[in-house]
Amino acid sequence: MDPIRNPYTPNAGERPDVLAGRDGQIEQYNVLLQRVSRGRSARSMIITGLRGVGKTVLLGKFRDTSLEAGWTVIEHEAAKHNDNAFRREMGLRLRTALFDLSPRARWTERYHRAAAAISAFSVTIDASGQVKAGLDLTDPVEGLADHGDLPMDMTDVLVALGAAAQEKSSGIALLLDEIQFLSRSQLESLIMALHKTVQRALPVVLVGAGLPQVPELAGDAKSYAERLFTFPVIGSLSGTDAHEALSGPAAAEQVRIDDDALARAFEVTGGYPYFIQELGSAAWSKAEHSPISLDDINDAAELYLAKLDESFFRVRLDRTTELQTAYLRAMAELGPQPHRASEVAVLLGRESTQLGPTRAELIDMGLLYTPQRGLAAFTVPHFDQFMLRAVPELLVPQVRRRRR
Ligand SMILES: Nc1ncnc2c1ncn2[C@@H]1O[C@H](COP(=O)(O)OP(=O)(O)O)[C@@H](O)[C@H]1O
Ligand SMILES: [Mg+2]
Repeated sequence: MDPIRNPYTPNAGERPDVLAGRDGQIEQYNVLLQRVSRGRSARSMIITGLRGVGKTVLLGKFRDTSLEAGWTVIEHEAAKHNDNAFRREMGLRLRTALFDLSPRARWTERYHRAAAAISAFSVTIDASGQVKAGLDLTDPVEGLADHGDLPMDMTDVLVALGAAAQEKSSGIALLLDEIQFLSRSQLESLIMALHKTVQRALPVVLVGAGLPQVPELAGDAKSYAERLFTFPVIGSLSGTDAHEALSGPAAAEQVRIDDDALARAFEVTGGYPYFIQELGSAAWSKAEHSPISLDDINDAAELYLAKLDESFFRVRLDRTTELQTAYLRAMAELGPQPHRASEVAVLLGRESTQLGPTRAELIDMGLLYTPQRGLAAFTVPHFDQFMLRAVPELLVPQVRRRRR
């Protein structure tokens, strides 16, 4: 059918025409925002799920909701950055938020204070003690966000910015994606800061989204986190929601999908949002006319796999070393479920201690996560099947001795 009217959205973070099965999280965010706007307490959210389940899309929805409520949004996609780079990145976004709340000409005392906090926050000191100038927004305030301690400085900044937003009856929504890449200290600093804004009943909310592997917290941050956040997990859609995700966008274009076609599509995609969009898009291009039939879905399945293989799956494998690839391939041999390191090691003819670093690297890269101590699983749904297609034979790399 007409490619111009193809309504599906098989791209990372792309808002789907029908956002299916997420009413619970959307409602929860609305309540959070409205309560905090009224100076009441409510728990912020840390959302986790595998790749392609719709975390980024959900954050995008929260962004819209926040803007409609007259809030200022700080969006940040976390990367593996040291604390200095993290300060600089956050500093720039905090500065944008400040100007968003009020142009400099109308700054009150609270705004100058927030500006001073952001300036001090973005000053960095490297390992050799060299000080690098930060943003210069206003005169510094001694003792404000200049402690050189990330949690203390982050707290000063969020409190000052929250207070400035409050004066305008606005608020600050911090929406952080890929939080598995934050270091423990970075995540802890955000939690400590949020703890303070909650105590002061300031209009600040934080939503983090990431892979199931969220950095393990320690000490105070850990106990605060349990009280400050709820931890929704999102995943594949139920049968009804998956049907809605596939048939809804077509219906808006006056195209129907047969029931047996919907059922087959659910089998193929497992109800994973990304896969639904990719299959929908392929079926649209294969079908000649409405309704989209079971045959159309079957015809589209090959194109669907080819598309996924060359984009969604392939990019994950592009950066892996030979040993990492062998490790993933061995996991795939064992099936889609989580596996013990020892089982994988047996297939590769090695001791699990020898493979420990490889496993750790794959977790670090966001390809594997540990659902439970001692277990590792793929972060990408259906990745096992992809590995079997991409690397047909089990790889058993030669043992190379480390030189000392
Ligand atoms: N609730 C949903 N219903 C239908 N499609 C969705 C839904 N959530 C996400 N999608 C689609 O799934 C894909 C992946 O979404 P994305 O937010 O990038 O996932 P993640 O951030 O979890 O990897 C995109 O193509 C998006 O259009
Ligand atoms: Mg994402």
